[in-house]
Amino acid sequence: MPMRDRSKLPLRPVAPVWAMMAGLALLSACKQPPASRIDADAAAAARGLSAMETVGCGACHEIPGLDWPKGRTAPSLVGFDDIGPIAGQLANTPANLAAFVRNAPAAKPGSLMPAMPLSESEARDVAAYLYRIDDD
Ligand code: HEC
Repeated sequence: MPMRDRSKLPLRPVAPVWAMMAGLALLSACKQPPASRIDADAAAAARGLSAMETVGCGACHEIPGLDWPKGRTAPSLVGFDDIGPIAGQLANTPANLAAFVRNAPAAKPGSLMPAMPLSESEARDVAAYLYRIDDD
């Protein structure tokens, strides 16, 4: 599948707060980022990454920050923060994303992604990580 076009993303904010504000303003001008993208805290994201390593999301997905494996049978999660609906169907909200990564067939009937052995809080951490993918 084609790589997502990231060239349309605004410059990523580095340290200065004004740059960050400008970046956020640009982002919200072209599309609404989920609120959690701004709030998601780094500790939750770090837990999310290790949960993804443990349960093996990389077997099917290429995921930034996960060096190996880089599965090709499922959509790449590179630039995931830049997509619209989750799996083409679900509104891209933190709650929906957590529900989807934990039990995709329940969240989206007919989804080919299997339910994953994540607790509810692990699923929220995974969602926090996915929303921060382009944020570092
Ligand atoms: C057995 C392979 C497999 C594994 C393991 C797997 N997925 Fe998926 N994933 C898929 C498939 C297939 C889809 C497309 C499903 C659909 O469109 O309904 C998908 C879709 C997704 C999406 C939506 C992507 C988009 O572009 O909308 C996300 C996010 C996601 N998976 C995250 C995860 C996370 C996080 C894990 C680990 C907790 C994981 N996946 C484990 C196969 C897998």
